Amino acid sequence: MAQLIAIQGDITTLRVDAIVNAANTSLLGGGGVDGAIHRAARPDLLAECRKLGGCATGDAKPTPGFHLPAKWVFHAVGPVWQGGEHGEDELLASCYRRCLELAKQHQVKSIAFPAISTGVYHFPPKRAARIAIDTVRKHVDASGVEVVRFACFNAETLAIYDDFLVEIPRPPIA
Ligand code: AR6
Repeated sequence: MAQLIAIQGDITTLRVDAIVNAANTSLLGGGGVDGAIHRAARPDLLAECRKLGGCATGDAKPTPGFHLPAKWVFHAVGPVWQGGEHGEDELLASCYRRCLELAKQHQVKSIAFPAISTGVYHFPPKRAARIAIDTVRKHVDASGVEVVRFACFNAETLAIYDDFLVEIPRPPIA
């Protein structure tokens, strides 16, 4: 059973096999966590991203971490919040699932996720955390990942994750 932990801090400093980026469909950088990752990984990362030809919402693509402590960056594109009736929940879940598929492909044992879509994309933070945790719990064992860190940038986000992580997951209804 994998270990799921929430921590407060800057995802770019984490010594894990892979960190996840909250990118946009161009994969050519931006603000928020995307900007921080590109700054820390330096221009090599942007050069590599240019080769990827963008990424669909709900999908994720891998690059090396270059100057980051992490070996890999999985660039996931979360949905922009549009009120919740435009497939946002499924698209957000798909980001977490796709990152765990990439983790399996690249033998990643430790991975850190930011709270995808909860910044400039305005996904409600509690709803996003619930989806992040439920999706990771569902798929983590099949991925071979042993440690998942949810990197929360502020204390409010950390409190949300901690509340959900202490809950005992309910078994699925048969
Ligand atoms: N480490 C961990 N979390 C962080 C960091 C960091 N260094 N910096 C910010 N966060 P956002 P989105 C948190 O806006 O909503 C970019 O311009 C932040 O507090 O980074 O998915 C992209 O290029 C928030 O909780 O991503 C896209 O255009 C979370 O990371 C767009 O923003 C996500 O906030 C994506 O928007």
